[in-house]
Amino acid sequence: MKPRPPNHALSAMRCPVSLEDVDLFSPGAQEHWYEAYPILHAEAPVHRIPGEGLGKGSDGYILTKYSDIARVVRDPERFTPLLSLALDADARARQADPKASSTLNAMLRSMQTLRPDEASWRAHRQELTDPWVGPGATRHTALIEGLVDALIDDWTDPSIDEAEVEFVAAFARPLPQRVMAAVLGFPEADLARLESWGDAMVMPFVHGHGHRNLLPREALEAQARSLEDFARYVLAHVQEKRAQPQDDMISFLTQVTYEALGRKLSDDEIHGVVYAMMIGGLETTQYALEQQAQLLCDDPALFGVLRADRSKVRAFVEEGLRLRAPTQGLSTRMTTRDEEFQGVPVPAGSLLHLRWAAANVDADEYACPYEVDLDRPRLARHLTFSQGQRSCPGASISRLEQTIAWNRLLDRVETMSYAADNTFVHQPGIMLGTLALRLQITPRRD
Ligand code: HEM
Repeated sequence: MKPRPPNHALSAMRCPVSLEDVDLFSPGAQEHWYEAYPILHAEAPVHRIPGEGLGKGSDGYILTKYSDIARVVRDPERFTPLLSLALDADARARQADPKASSTLNAMLRSMQTLRPDEASWRAHRQELTDPWVGPGATRHTALIEGLVDALIDDWTDPSIDEAEVEFVAAFARPLPQRVMAAVLGFPEADLARLESWGDAMVMPFVHGHGHRNLLPREALEAQARSLEDFARYVLAHVQEKRAQPQDDMISFLTQVTYEALGRKLSDDEIHGVVYAMMIGGLETTQYALEQQAQLLCDDPALFGVLRADRSKVRAFVEEGLRLRAPTQGLSTRMTTRDEEFQGVPVPAGSLLHLRWAAANVDADEYACPYEVDLDRPRLARHLTFSQGQRSCPGASISRLEQTIAWNRLLDRVETMSYAADNTFVHQPGIMLGTLALRLQITPRRD
């Protein structure tokens, strides 16, 4: 097996050895994130980024302790989500000028009407998304198994001795794309277009600058143009499915009576829900699968442990999600009053960057935090999907995809290791993932 090169060989940025070196956001920082976290925990668990708040003169703060982040996400009144701030700003602008058109994207527009308060956030999840991507996602088990098999058939055929496969392009990327298209009810023939719209949606998280993932104006305009096509495409499907419902999520959304409001959803509201499923449901699961493949290559014995006891696959998925959180951190909350974290005062109006990935390796929460431990107590309490009412609504379907993927691969792959020509360089942005991962696969014969 060819081992991974050390991270300092992958980035022009210096590997951090002290707090002065820590920089989570400049190009190349991705290679050193996991060296930076213990330094932040020890020296600056509440790390100020001067002048990087929302308003003039306000600061950003990177939170890395599990207890701090768990407190913040469970209290949306005290720590206002940025999504809510965007909705308030839009409402104010339109009050001032009722003719002004909304600058909000479809997801945010649908939040304005479908989730106007905290109680309706719960209803939105329970009534609209849970049956499809939440706990009800188990209904897609056979679908996902079929999609996994179709993607791996070629390179796990027992008649071949060995195969080399680029795991991201061959599997980790297309699987969630195909699952979400099928769940929503989009035709397979449109996968390439859906992929490019998905890329446009996540552009800020890949190409954005700094902890706020800011894009230059030209990029925002290109994104808006691409998403206008997406809007037309979705609305055509919504109208078609309203007239002739099928067994898919969009059809369901055209027919359901949303009890929280006692009415059906408009076309644009459905567009907003679909937008949310696409922006959340594609790349995140891709990175989870890709990083889990790396964990298995780094510790070849793990593959055998999982094969011998399939009940541990779910534990492996949780440990993978904890140890290699796909969404490493997001600047998504603002303090509404003066606060204190770890003895550090944080003034009202500060922007909080919640570093989920660092909280997941907080030594005050986890024994041997950097190790995969399949017997860890309460494995699913990590912060990868956040927690509380505003946590990820698609966590269940993502977990299901990952669990089925590894069970099917364990059925059909004897050994898996790094191929010779990997670079291991991470993609830019705030997500943890390599652009490619070449694997050497020996298919199972029995
Ligand atoms: C490994 C995979 C995933 C990870 C790591 C992840 C992570 C997260 C996190 C951390 C949040 C909270 C953001 C915040 O509070 O600021 C979130 C929210 C969200 N996620 Fe996920 N997610 C994943 C998969 C999915 C999937 C499969 C879907 C859709 C099917 C999805 C849809 C969403 C949506 C729509 C939100 C915004 C909150 C809402 O509308 O209720 N995510 N996700």
